[in-house]
Amino acid sequence: MRKQIVAGNWKMNCDLAETDALLNDLKKQSIPDSTHVMVAPTYTNLQSAVRSLEDSSITVAAQNMHQSESGAFTGEISAAMLQSIGVDHVILGHSERRAYFGETNELLAEKVTTALNHNMKVIFCFGEELVDRQHGREFDVVKDQLKYGLFHVSESDWQHIILAYEPVWAIGTGETASPEQAQEMHAFIRKTLAENYSPSIAEEVSILYGGSVKPGNASEIFGKADVDGGLIGGASLDAESFTAIVNAFQ
Ligand code: PGA
Repeated sequence: MRKQIVAGNWKMNCDLAETDALLNDLKKQSIPDSTHVMVAPTYTNLQSAVRSLEDSSITVAAQNMHQSESGAFTGEISAAMLQSIGVDHVILGHSERRAYFGETNELLAEKVTTALNHNMKVIFCFGEELVDRQHGREFDVVKDQLKYGLFHVSESDWQHIILAYEPVWAIGTGETASPEQAQEMHAFIRKTLAENYSPSIAEEVSILYGGSVKPGNASEIFGKADVDGGLIGGASLDAESFTAIVNAFQ
């Protein structure tokens, strides 16, 4: 059985006090056991988030990490540092990292390897840009992102990987892929996985959809056969909206 997952990517929002307040609000909401809920605050608030959520089922994830073990990489954070504060989930390959920080598929492949070497769980993001869809090459782009960023991992590594399909044109724009567009791409991703690994790996991996998911559209998107949840940006910054999305599985 694939896991249902809803993860909140808080991006560069919320200082320490705001993070505490949002976590306290979240802890008051009812979260079903059937759904694995994660939140990804900014680096400086990860440790307090871990402490705040100690007695909760909500998992704390990092938004990024460096591919090296340690060394002269000013401003960067390693896998070991995350683990030392109790964080063992990391989002890699978010489109904002790809677009604004030059993260390529090859670099992401290194980050994935490092995270897996540390037994971390990876939420691997990918998705086409608007221009790709306009030219009908969204499937090729997605296939390449998977092939060059992720398909070096071993079969057994897949139990540590969560996929997040996020069409760039739908992130923070209010523009959502239709549930049918999401389903079509998720089914393609599963088919690609079956061809490159095995049908059972394709069947087992959770594939999240991300891009302007809101309480009003979540249940239709999550209702699609190959959509196992969502990676939520804007709507995750409000505890009630986020919880409404968490509860949107039919
Ligand atoms: P959004 O962001 O929900 O604000 O569109 C999604 C994401 O960037 O993961």
